[in-house]
Amino acid sequence: MAIERTLSIIKPDATRRNLTGKINALFEGAGLRIVAQKRIRMTSEVAGKFYDVHRERSFFSSLCDFMCSGPVVVQVLEGENAIAHNREVMGATNPANAAPGTVRREFAESIEANSVHGSDSPENAAREIGFFFSEMEIVG
Ligand code: CMP
Repeated sequence: MAIERTLSIIKPDATRRNLTGKINALFEGAGLRIVAQKRIRMTSEVAGKFYDVHRERSFFSSLCDFMCSGPVVVQVLEGENAIAHNREVMGATNPANAAPGTVRREFAESIEANSVHGSDSPENAAREIGFFFSEMEIVG
């Protein structure tokens, strides 16, 4: 299996409840290595650009407001098959459908305030990692 990198975001509902360490422990316990990490506050312009693919969806404006409502932790996770593997560790978008033991089942508050984001394809991982990090900030 290939070693991949994926972009992860610990969202404002999770930073507000001081869950960064507990979520990172689930990532690390699952064999994902945190090779870059920083805590930032998104502006609505940044959130809109990041989620541009969802611009036409009914939840777009609420999602952007939520992502700016507090600090987020943006990260690069590295490991075997990291993109799909991280999506398994996160669980389904809607926590009501997420499997026991996943991040969203354990911690998410709602389909919007779902604690974490993870890239869904190699193309999006490359775009999303480049959106937040320079090569110098990623140390494997
Ligand atoms: P994320 O994986 O970051 O990708 C898009 C985000 O939109 C999603 O997680 C949720 O936080 C948010 N969202 C809000 N409503 C919905 C919805 N009905 N379907 C999918 N995503 C939603």
